[in-house]
Amino acid sequence: MTNHKGSHVRVFATADIGEASLARLRKRGYQVEVYSDTEPPTKEVIIEKVSGGIDALITTLRDPIDEEVFAAGEHTLKIVAQIAVGFDNIDRAAANRYRIPFSNTADVLTEATAEFAFFMMGAVSRKLYQSEKLVEENQWGSWHPYHPFLGDEVTGKTVAVIGTGRIGKAFAKKCIGLDADLLLYDPEVRDEKFVEYASREMALRFEAGFSRKLRSARYVSFSEALAGADYLSLHVPLLMRGESVTPTYHLMNAEAFRRMKKTAYLINTSRGPVVDETALCKALLNRQIAGAALDVYETEPLPVDNPLRNPRLKHRLRLFHHFASGTRETRLSADPDVGMAGRCVQAVIDAIEGNYAGDASRMPYVVNKEAFKVTGDG
Ligand code: GLV
Repeated sequence: MTNHKGSHVRVFATADIGEASLARLRKRGYQVEVYSDTEPPTKEVIIEKVSGGIDALITTLRDPIDEEVFAAGEHTLKIVAQIAVGFDNIDRAAANRYRIPFSNTADVLTEATAEFAFFMMGAVSRKLYQSEKLVEENQWGSWHPYHPFLGDEVTGKTVAVIGTGRIGKAFAKKCIGLDADLLLYDPEVRDEKFVEYASREMALRFEAGFSRKLRSARYVSFSEALAGADYLSLHVPLLMRGESVTPTYHLMNAEAFRRMKKTAYLINTSRGPVVDETALCKALLNRQIAGAALDVYETEPLPVDNPLRNPRLKHRLRLFHHFASGTRETRLSADPDVGMAGRCVQAVIDAIEGNYAGDASRMPYVVNKEAFKVTGDG
């Protein structure tokens, strides 16, 4: 049933987030315009829509949502709802200056992203791509103990988890099933309760005979994580210098690669600029590390002349298209407890309909709550 109260509400989505979720808005009478091209609109288009008085803007991480956009929406824009957990494309300080809430879709992509990182370890070290290619190209000769190549086993190895937020911990939990020893590093927090439960699970697996060795989980320094890892997986947000006391921009640089084992693999599903790609290429070419699998890049889509495309790296470097959260359930479910699209439209509904007594600091998916908290006794 259409709610005519909503018929003045206008929403612009910079990408199609799926009919099921958009229908939730339309059913409430909202006028929803979707930018239907698969490439993002230009910033001019976004500014034009925002200046035109839309109430809600649905964005993706491809859209630069900066001072100009917030200024254009100063008196009309009630929410910027980003369909992503990351929001490094959104100028938080500008959002706060204009007191416009923006939301993200944390939680619902945790498992999808964590499992993709987990699969990426196998993809690169067990040479899944090369194996398929052999069959596809009809190059598959008779079975041989080691020809034409072998992979490195993941089970029982040491996995360093860099960043132990939601996704890092979900990834770590999956690694326990592969009998990994876990080295946890987080620039900000140490979740000792997680370590305790992970250790108990490891002990139980050992006691039951599921695991041949008693495995361990512990927090370590970044240097220890680098030096000890057979697989090192990144799960930190992108924080630029000056933005945080523990910036993550180029956390993986030439020095970091020098400290890793020659047999180690790097996995990145976090943000591209956390890795210095030039340093990574050198580390791979100089055999300082065994391989890497990347889902995110300093520039996306990956430019045609990017050095990561060097054919000499092909067999040790697996490249994916920012796909870690790309499951049907996670991307498109209209249920805010399941899908990014669902969570995104719920954030729009909360802001437009004044849920939580219209207090953006209490709206669960709003990121910049600090801009709306009443401070002091005023
Ligand atoms: C994807 O990278 C996201 O931040 O959701």
